[in-house]
Amino acid sequence: MRLLKVLSCAATFPALLAAFPNVPFKTSNRWVVDSTGANFTYIGVNWPGAGDVMIPEGLQYASIESIVSKIKSLKMNVVRLTFAIEMIDDIKDNGGDVTLQSAFSKALGSDGNTVYQQVLRNNPQFNSSTTRLQVFDAVAAELAKQGIYVHLDNHMSKGAWCCSTNDGNAWFGDTYFNTEKWKRGLQYMAEHSKNWSSMISIGLRNEFRKPDITGSSLAYNWQTWYTQVVAAANVVNAANPDILIHLSGLDFDTKLTPIPGADDLGGGQRFQLSSFNYANKLVLELHNYQTSATNCDSIKNGLWNNGFKALDAAAKNRMPVVLTEFGFSQADNSYNRVYASCLRRIIPEWDAGWTVWVLAGSYYIRSGRQDYEETWGLLNHNWTGWRNTNAIAALQQMIDASYR
Ligand SMILES: *[C@@H]1O[C@H](CO)[C@@H](O)[C@H](O)[C@H]1NC(C)=O
Ligand SMILES: *[C@@H]1O[C@H](CO)[C@@H](O)[C@H](O)[C@H]1NC(C)=O
Ligand SMILES: *[C@@H]1O[C@H](CO)[C@@H](O)[C@H](O)[C@H]1NC(C)=O
Ligand SMILES: *[C@@H]1O[C@H](CO)[C@@H](O)[C@H](O)[C@H]1NC(C)=O
Repeated sequence: MRLLKVLSCAATFPALLAAFPNVPFKTSNRWVVDSTGANFTYIGVNWPGAGDVMIPEGLQYASIESIVSKIKSLKMNVVRLTFAIEMIDDIKDNGGDVTLQSAFSKALGSDGNTVYQQVLRNNPQFNSSTTRLQVFDAVAAELAKQGIYVHLDNHMSKGAWCCSTNDGNAWFGDTYFNTEKWKRGLQYMAEHSKNWSSMISIGLRNEFRKPDITGSSLAYNWQTWYTQVVAAANVVNAANPDILIHLSGLDFDTKLTPIPGADDLGGGQRFQLSSFNYANKLVLELHNYQTSATNCDSIKNGLWNNGFKALDAAAKNRMPVVLTEFGFSQADNSYNRVYASCLRRIIPEWDAGWTVWVLAGSYYIRSGRQDYEETWGLLNHNWTGWRNTNAIAALQQMIDASYR
């Protein structure tokens, strides 16, 4: 309950509160620690910003401040903020960052202007010259103001709903997945986010997956993963040596199986933490969506063997592991079934961090449908309140258990 202690003292000792954010963070074997050496556990939520419009979602219904206040009211400490490489491609190759107004028009066609006007009504600090990246800046600034950390995540190359094996964003060299532009985009955001006072980390890529059509892409295997991921991590670390770098795995980020034990990745290549001169900046991240599971032990064993055993003292590469995505329908009693109850128990038991999917009620557009209802969203359609207060009460138990 470290956070609560800080908050309750803050009234009497404002200097303590002023100490936030205590960056940069680093790792200490399996722990993430802040600049004072205190353990930090990721306890947060995903806020999507990598959809077609490439602007953090929800702003046509609510202000950034009110959305952040909702996260704060749960005592979460971090947001996994997703972005698309296409935003940086526009900045670098297409004449600069796109204004909100053009971004909405481009993605929503004739309805774009109405939605843009709604965004301005809720967020009057924006105007006709505000760009997409300035919205990310405003989100990062408000998160910092309310004492919440930012973890950036490169979700997609082309801005769109993620993820499928035929969306052209699956693997290095896939239709939209240009590896050089990917590294350039990561470098740009690593550099840019130096200006965000509570920025702590970045995920190099959301769910790698085998593309249906493999014509243009590199071989889908661990050797390619190693080559590309290490190259990108080097670029990010050079651009911003302060931030932690999250490495995601294969098969929709469900597998980092050969990493904890430094197993042969093929051709004798092994992932060895000791070979990095920034080893204390590397973190593993996994996803899990076994929503119809009937047995907690099988979820638990799967997660452990697929990567969480990097937490173990016996691991050759002992590192923090964060469950950066899991989630389930908020429209029914899924929160009470095996999958949700299981993760709610085991992740805090492992003292592992997590960010739940998803902070949303609806999307500007998803898969071609505007104002798309997100039944997995923690919020109701118009982002004014929780979708399912019972599910939120259960989530609160997980949050509290993670602060122990
Ligand atoms: C972090 O937590 C672990 C487990 O509770 C503990 O062993 C370790 O000493 C903690 N580190 C710090 C700096 O509090
Ligand atoms: C428009 O918005 C941007 C970013 O939100 C801000 O930097 C700029 O000062 C604003 N311009 C005016 C005229 O208010
Ligand atoms: C960095 O942040 C400061 C303070 O919020 C702001 O005034 C400045 O414009 C920002 N710089 C960039 C490049 O965003
Ligand atoms: C938002 O949605 C809730 C629940 O669906 C509803 O009660 C409320 O009236 C809506 N608010 C607005 C401003 O549309």
